[in-house]
Amino acid sequence: MSQPALSVRSLDLTDPATFIENDIHEFWRDVRARQPVYWHEPTDRNPGFWVVSRYADVQSLYHHGALSSARGNVLDVVLRGDDSAGGSMLAVTDAPRHRSLRNLMFSAFTPRVLGEVVEKVRKRTDDLVSAVLEKDTFDFAAEVAEQIPMNTICDLLSIPAADRGALLQWNKMALSSGHADSSELDALGARNEIVLYFMELAQERRDNPGDDVISMLATSEVDGRLLTVEEVAVNCYSLILGGDETSRISAICAVLALIENPDQWQALRTGEVSFESAVEEVIRWATPGIHLARTAVEDFEIRGAKVRAGDIVTLWNISANNDESVFDQPRRFTLSRSPNRHLSFGHGPHYCLGAYLGRGELRALLSALVEHVGGMELRGTPRPIYSNFLTGYESLPVHFEGR
Ligand code: HEM
Repeated sequence: MSQPALSVRSLDLTDPATFIENDIHEFWRDVRARQPVYWHEPTDRNPGFWVVSRYADVQSLYHHGALSSARGNVLDVVLRGDDSAGGSMLAVTDAPRHRSLRNLMFSAFTPRVLGEVVEKVRKRTDDLVSAVLEKDTFDFAAEVAEQIPMNTICDLLSIPAADRGALLQWNKMALSSGHADSSELDALGARNEIVLYFMELAQERRDNPGDDVISMLATSEVDGRLLTVEEVAVNCYSLILGGDETSRISAICAVLALIENPDQWQALRTGEVSFESAVEEVIRWATPGIHLARTAVEDFEIRGAKVRAGDIVTLWNISANNDESVFDQPRRFTLSRSPNRHLSFGHGPHYCLGAYLGRGELRALLSALVEHVGGMELRGTPRPIYSNFLTGYESLPVHFEGR
């Protein structure tokens, strides 16, 4: 590692509090202008790492052959050491195995499977939004947003109805380690339960294959051998890890942004902007995963910064998606924004495998709002997520007026 002189105000990007206590967009504006690639100094607990902030650099590094995902793709994990799923879970596997595994998973998401799943999402979202119209104040996060992604992933994987309750419960526990009333040990136990559950299901479907995604993964060969049941299981779990919180946060963000920007809500209701364009702006505005991490496997140089093999490199989507050289007035929520080539789904070989479904879920939400809701009102203070990887809110007290 060799670093250019640091001129930006430094913030500890490993600390979740940083993202709550500071005007983070002002910070990134400053970084992009004055030190677009910089070395984040080590802290008492963590080694240092590179920070990349401009759209063009983030986009090009997603394709860079010198960067690996196999030690993890989230800063916290890479700082702690290797990701235990490296080389077996799609998101943390490098080429050439990544390509074969991705092709297999992609081929399991046939148009028929996706079509059925999206149809169910529409129906479920419509029912959820209709049900909250009768309430006074309710938490949109708990009563609507939380109900959509996990059920969508269960539909995608054809999880039997009888098992869904347990899976949803484990997933809640697996996600709750940051909360006061649960421990890291409970969260770890819950994650193990999910993997064990998928291993059993993978074995069952290998013995008795059906016409579904897990059967396909359990009976197909990658690079000349069947995936192990553990590999099938971690890749099923990866759909939950990739698709649950990201979609939920985007849905919560959509409602808050529409409440805060009544002109945009009006434009959506009157059909002045298309749902497709609105969905893209919601996803840019939300940027649920604010960074992705990689590890350099060879030396390379970017904007004068000399990255050495072994260095951690972080790509900040939240900054790239608000880069004023690409997005006009980026801090304006503009549903008609076009073009809108945000990096919220990543870019390059690891581009989000669930982007079609993520978009489908938001489209279903926006349609249901337009169809059933006359007005939306904030009824309290939204609770922000405490994380240096995810951004958004975990509760959103609101009232919806029926049409
Ligand atoms: C990959 C974001 C929805 C499954 C990614 C990546 C991002 C992302 C940024 C790239 C990771 C990297 O480069 O290291 C999002 C957002 C979503 C969303 C913002 C919703 C708005 C979903 C859904 C699913 C899913 C619904 C599954 C049903 C995956 C998987 C990968 C991935 C499996 C790994 C792909 C690979 O490594 O080849 N997602 N995602 N995502 N996402 Fe999503």
